[in-house]
Formats: sequence, C-alpha cells, structure tokens
Amino acid sequence: MQMKIADRLQHTEEYYFSKKLSQIAELNKSGIQVLNLGIGSPDLQPPAIVIDTLIEESKNPHNHAYQKYNGIPALRNAIATWYGKEYSVTLNPETEVLPLIGSKEGIMHICMTYLQPGDEALVPNPGYPSYLSAVRLSGATPVSYDLKEEDSWLPDLNELSKRDLSKVKIMWINYPHMPSGAKANRDFFKAIIAFAKENQILICHDNPYSFILNDEQISILSIPGSKEVAIELNSFSKTFNMAGWRIGMLVGAQERISEILRFKSNMDSGMFYPLQMAASKALSLDKDWYSELNKVYRQRREKVYELLNILNCTYDKNQVGMFVWAKIADKYEDAYVLTDEILDKSRVFITPGGIFGSQGRDHIRISLCAPESTFAEAINRITSSNLSS
Ligand SMILES: Cc1ncc(COP(=O)(O)O)c(C=O)c1O
Repeated sequence: MQMKIADRLQHTEEYYFSKKLSQIAELNKSGIQVLNLGIGSPDLQPPAIVIDTLIEESKNPHNHAYQKYNGIPALRNAIATWYGKEYSVTLNPETEVLPLIGSKEGIMHICMTYLQPGDEALVPNPGYPSYLSAVRLSGATPVSYDLKEEDSWLPDLNELSKRDLSKVKIMWINYPHMPSGAKANRDFFKAIIAFAKENQILICHDNPYSFILNDEQISILSIPGSKEVAIELNSFSKTFNMAGWRIGMLVGAQERISEILRFKSNMDSGMFYPLQMAASKALSLDKDWYSELNKVYRQRREKVYELLNILNCTYDKNQVGMFVWAKIADKYEDAYVLTDEILDKSRVFITPGGIFGSQGRDHIRISLCAPESTFAEAINRITSSNLSS
C-alpha cells in the first residue's frame, strides 16, 4: 500500500543524527569502528543517589500507576527550590512549573500551543534544529535570524526591530548557545525582554547548558518583569547525565503553564513515579556534583583543542557548554566537505556546522561526550590519515 504522508511533514526530513547514526552503524559493520565525536549524549554516569532512588522506588508496588499530568508535587517542589537556589528565581511549584519528558518535547508542545498557519516564529541560525522543525510542524512559518561570530553569536535586536514583526508570535533563543557555545549576560536578557514587550512576542528560552563549563547560571526569568513575556525550558540531560531518562522542565507564568498543559495533557501522561522521585534527588545535589563534572569536561576540552589545531581550525576559548565550536580552514568549501573527508579517511565523526543552519556552514562542532582516550585515538587517526589540510 502507498501511504501519502501529511502535508505538514513535506518539509520535515528525518532528524540528521538519526540518519547519520544509521550510516555510522553500516560503516562499523564493515571494519574499523567509527569514533563518534558528534552527538551530545553524556557518556558519564548520573549521580549514584539518583540511580539508587530509581531502583528503590521501583520496588514499591504502589509506584507503577499513571501519574498526574503536571508532575508529582515532590518534583515540582524540587524544581522550584533548585530555581531559587541556582538561578535566584522564585517559582510557585503548584502553578509555574511543568515537568516534561525531555525539553525536546517541550519545544513541540510550545509550538503546538501557540502557533498556527499564518503565524511566524523567529528561530536562530545557527541553532538547535528542533526549533525549526517544531515551528514547521505547527503549520506556522519559521523566520530565521542570523547569529554571527562578529556579534558574539547574539541576535542583532536593532536589525530585528526594523523588520515587519506583526505576524511573529514567538522567538526561540538559547544561551548558553548551542552550537556556538556563546554566553549571554544579564544586559542581553534585559534587552530581549524589552524587545519582547515592545513587539508582543513570547520569548522561549531554552537553557539546558547553563551548568556545563559555565561559571554563571542565568535564567531569563531572573530579569524583573520577564514572566509577562518569557518562558524557559531546562533539562536533566546534560546537567545530570540523564539524557536517556527523558526528563526536563518548563517554567513560567501560571497562564503559560496551563495553556501548554492543555496541549501536553492530550499528548502524553505523567512520568513514571520512581523516575520523578529520582530526578528530584538530582536537584538537591550540592556544588560538588557540578564541579566534578566540569573537571572532566575541562580535561577533555584540552584534547579537543589539540585536535582542532591539527585541523587548522580557529576557536574561541571563552565558549561554554558541552561542545567546542570551531571555524574551519578557508581552503574547504564548507564543513560538510571536511567532516565527510574525516569520516571517510579517519573514521572519526564530527558534526558539520551546516546542520544548524547556513550560518554554521564554515564551522564544525565537537562533542565533549567521549573519554580522553577516544580523543587521543581520534588525534592519532587524523594525524596519520592523509587529510588534505
Ligand atoms: C539546545 C538544545 N535544546 C534542547 C535539547 C534537548 O534536550 P532534552 O534531552 O532535554 O530533550 C538539546 C539536546 O541536545 C539541545 O542541544
């Protein structure tokens, strides 16, 4: 039988990494294993207390039922307390917190709640690809805004203000920014809140990297008056090495949370109780958790610098987050050419910046989610293969 896919999927292809991982699996079958420096899935373990809590809570025969759509009170309280402690943001755990099955699903829920054909949404170029696809799937039109190295990968709000923004309902932003690793300071967040108020746009801030190699954690909700025009996504995936657990959160004004819950509660159900209890434990960890994690990433990053030097790439050492973003040597037409050559000759997979948008075409992104020995092996392979650089 021939099935015609829905029009809404016409411009949405399979996720790049989903396709690339199949190609890597094929290559692996044919001989030398590919070293994957592409994807940002933490290889380090979640906190031991979190795993223990999951196991213990799973043994309780009363803990296997459906759960509330807006999460269990223990998790909502833990999120509100964590936001107070780490970001100096006051949240009402009853009304201003919504646990999610990963922040990626939150991106879709937000778009489906607010957008429809005829609406526009601003998405960063380069940026996390799900913003663009979720906007498209909602039927609205994505309007990209360029982020440039010379502007420290921050949006040019003066340029944006000159555009016709009458159809724009939401704007996606993400700082620390993936893939560039750029940070935004409080002045930037103040400026974007003013811009949002002026243009009546909801700012959706995606904030999963604030604890990775970053000294100052900033939530957009810490800016006075921000709850009127901004919401924030956060995640356990990177901060607590819990990517496969699928758990994240949305925080914001009561009205926004209940609007988004209208959509979400029709899509999925509350998460497994032991998982929510375990996640609550993660949020109660002290500073040592974050500093130990960052010690490992800091060492790995030194190896990545070494690898990038061999490839004649240039990069900013002030960047933060779980990746290193680097500009490739001029001789390559774009980063796809370089990363395909590296995969072909050295069996090392590095992400080409073009998958994050045209503004990333001359960059590559290397993930810190591999042990130092893998970076050492990648350096050996790249040094000994005959790359054209
Ligand atoms: C910028 C950004 N937002 C959201 C996500 C999704 O995170 P989660 O695992 O919480 O769905 C990622 C994952 O790589 C990301 O890089």
